[in-house]
Amino acid sequence: MRPLHKLERRLLVSLARNGGGFLEDVTSRANMSIDQARRTVEWLRSKGMIKIETITRHRIEVLNEGKRAIEHGLPERRLVKVLGEIGGEATIDELVKAFDSTRQEFSAAFGHARAKGWIDTFSKEGRTIVRVSAFDRNQVEESLLRRVEEKGLLFEELSEEEEKVIDELSKRPNYLSKIGTKIININLTEVGKSIAETIKEVREIDRLTPELIMSGKWREQKLRSLDVEAVAPAVYPGKKHPIQRFVDEVRGAFVSLGFEEITGPIIQPSFWNFDALFVPQDHPARDMQDTFYLPKIREPKLASKDLVERISRVHMDGGGTGSKGWRYNWTLDEAKRLVLRTHTTAVTVKYLADHKASEAKVFSVDKVFRNEKLDTKHLAELHQIEGIIVSKRATLRDLMGVLSEFYKILGLKKVKFWPTYFPYTEPSLQSIVHVKGFGWMELCGMGIFRPEVTLPLGVKNPVLAWGGGLERLVMARLRIEDIRELYENDLGWLRRVPLCL
Ligand code: PHE
Repeated sequence: MRPLHKLERRLLVSLARNGGGFLEDVTSRANMSIDQARRTVEWLRSKGMIKIETITRHRIEVLNEGKRAIEHGLPERRLVKVLGEIGGEATIDELVKAFDSTRQEFSAAFGHARAKGWIDTFSKEGRTIVRVSAFDRNQVEESLLRRVEEKGLLFEELSEEEEKVIDELSKRPNYLSKIGTKIININLTEVGKSIAETIKEVREIDRLTPELIMSGKWREQKLRSLDVEAVAPAVYPGKKHPIQRFVDEVRGAFVSLGFEEITGPIIQPSFWNFDALFVPQDHPARDMQDTFYLPKIREPKLASKDLVERISRVHMDGGGTGSKGWRYNWTLDEAKRLVLRTHTTAVTVKYLADHKASEAKVFSVDKVFRNEKLDTKHLAELHQIEGIIVSKRATLRDLMGVLSEFYKILGLKKVKFWPTYFPYTEPSLQSIVHVKGFGWMELCGMGIFRPEVTLPLGVKNPVLAWGGGLERLVMARLRIEDIRELYENDLGWLRRVPLCL
């Protein structure tokens, strides 16, 4: 048999020793909280060791008028008292005045007092006189009400006499209400009894504390064994979105390699998104088909006049970088057009311009936007992982090495590289990675920034740069075929996505 939980043993022993009864009593005799008892009762019931019977009982709740009666006596008693105080006899009008209450309460008090025979009336000189005829000092109703209120008695616990009193009182408005409650009665079954007899009082612990470990006392303790196969309810606590979790993981990977994070605005002038990266103004990537353009609300500030001038020269004739440039008529207007950044390389290149670092290792994991038709592989809004290394001796081999290392941290071990083309890097590489059970997938683009990019910014050392999509890595990890699923925010899916993979 599976080992019994500490609470199960405690409850069984207590039931065998003290007998069964209502859940509340059983609970307190076994020295448990009501929650512990509920759980334990359920476990033991499913194992056939206890039987449960549910009985409906009535709790009596004393309402406002009832409470007033407890404090000041029933209205009829107050009336008789008042009548006594004004001489034991009075006309109705005098009594109403002395009683000093609402008309309604007076008539109730009067009616009850007369019905109980505490007062009677006679007529004298044509007027009706009320007088005290008897008085009951026992205050049966009041003391019963008080007991009910203080002890929370159940209707079924009262004597027959008392039940009658309660029923009478409950006819008065706002005195009492009877509330049916289910009462759980618990008893050991034969199986439970025989098992309870075998339980020895072994003191087991179910928590290893630092103290126990440090003092070595754990060696003398008996540890409760755990049933790791026991069925447990599924819990769905709040947790981070899988994308956000992966973003954090990527940040961690970069930081562990000594990179610092940089961020920048989502809206960029074409100048930083394209021109500073030596993307010619007629390049297809700048097309409306690929890029989201925004209306120009304000004149954007691009950079210093000097820098804008140097970059325009690089485009037109190489500007003394040793390049011939693209040889076309560069325009400031085109550079000022606002875009939702299409890659985080816009942020990287602005960082280079601002810092002119001779040595640097920075990264960003941030949103980019592409004017794409959505399908199983494409989103219009996605995350890009981007990094650069500025170093005097940096080479393409270093770039491949760092990337392999970086992806290894994320659990991706097989990476392949081959040459490709970007307007801003030379040489340029493309990479793919192998994901178990998923196959090969495109990873990121990379290269060494061209002198046409770095020299106008004032950066002399080589800059290794790379950038790639984040969502597809999450897809591979979560074995998702359709990229759109990541952002559908289907609650069922979000709940089921495992935290560790
Ligand atoms: N910006 C490129 C893209 O969006 C990736 C890249 C970054 C390539 C840096 C080379 C250098 O795909």
